[in-house]
Amino acid sequence: MSTLDGRELILGVTGSIAAYKAVYLLRELTRAGARVSVCLSEHAREFVGPLTFRTLSGRPVLSDLFDPQSDAAVEHVALAERAHAVIVAPATANLLGKAAAGIADDFLTTLLLAARCPVVMAPAMDGGMWEHPAVVANVATLRGRGVTVLEPDAGALASGLSARGRLPEADVIVEALLTALTVRRDLDGQRVVVTAGPTREPIDPVRYISNRSSGRMGYALAAAAARRGALVTLVSGPTTLMPPTAATFVPVQTAEQMREAVLRHAAGSAVVIKAAAVADYRVRNAADQKIKGKRDLTLDLTPNADILAEVAARDTGAFIVGFAAETNDVVANARAKLEAKGIDLLVANDVSRRDIGFDAEENEVLLLDRWGGSRALPRMAKTAVADAILDEIQALRAAHPVRKAVR
Ligand SMILES: Cc1cc2nc3c(=O)[nH]c(=O)nc-3n(C[C@H](O)[C@H](O)[C@H](O)COP(=O)(O)O)c2cc1C
Repeated sequence: MSTLDGRELILGVTGSIAAYKAVYLLRELTRAGARVSVCLSEHAREFVGPLTFRTLSGRPVLSDLFDPQSDAAVEHVALAERAHAVIVAPATANLLGKAAAGIADDFLTTLLLAARCPVVMAPAMDGGMWEHPAVVANVATLRGRGVTVLEPDAGALASGLSARGRLPEADVIVEALLTALTVRRDLDGQRVVVTAGPTREPIDPVRYISNRSSGRMGYALAAAAARRGALVTLVSGPTTLMPPTAATFVPVQTAEQMREAVLRHAAGSAVVIKAAAVADYRVRNAADQKIKGKRDLTLDLTPNADILAEVAARDTGAFIVGFAAETNDVVANARAKLEAKGIDLLVANDVSRRDIGFDAEENEVLLLDRWGGSRALPRMAKTAVADAILDEIQALRAAHPVRKAVR
């Protein structure tokens, strides 16, 4: 039996030239046994008529939120709650923007806000649109909230240009849907603390020392843990990211504030994941007033507390995960850090590479555990890395239930 057999799906179609491909996708989904309600945006109707979708799905097409003839329109919330998944294919730049901003001005966008099930979006647009900073930011926001936003394919576009912007093939969309549907609730009810982002150490009231961490890896971990049922506390330094709605958000600025928040929340937690890039040093005597002038200035730096080692030393019973951002001798440095801190799992990445690590969408990490195991994960989106790290944590927790005794 296919995993889609009997599944209630909503297929959203928006106003892209690739809208006709949604017809083929609908065929794939219904052939696999899914029951599909199709929701067309007003502009999608300009490209493909509702009759095609109604005939192939065997259901009325959803389109007008205020249609007095349609019970489904009134029931849009119940419909969203009943659905096992929502797929938007093709997803226009407009739809991504509205979904990221939480706008609900038509059937599909209202339904997306009401949905609590996995959401898969397959964008299609001109290559320049896909690379526009607004679209890039909207995609990052949606991914940070746990939405699966697929990468469009590269190739010939309707504009005649060749670029990344083509709707992914139907089988790729179905595969992503199956993955989204098989998310496990293996952290149900368990407390997980995640730290993310950089810290800012003041020099004076307007200047600070910080680092290049974007917070994406930590936010992806928080979203993934929440999807898997965890009660997540996200302690975050300043970032431009939207915290996952399901997490308790604790914003901090300095390493000392982060330390205090982590120690407060770590007690009673099953897992503590320290993905933040905490500043190693702070200015010993930060000025109370803005430093004036252009003379030579020497900052007197003093080391910040080692939060990771401190949490580990408290032996609260939590499974403790640290991150190592290395620029050289990654494996040796990471193994040394794992042992020095007394933690359970260390996620090491090479931040000398521009394509992964700090401020990048993707990451390629090495996982080292306290029992001598090591596993290299292939390069993938940080959202996928997050789930792979959680898989490893869960496997290690299951394999070493009396873990504290080996300390
Ligand atoms: C011929 C044509 C093709 C279009 N193709 C796309 C596309 O592939 N991707 C996209 O984001 N917008 C495309 N647009 C622009 C959208 O239709 C427009 O932004 C619209 O407001 C989207 O509305 P919707 O997201 O509610 O469907 C196209 C417009 C036209 C006229």
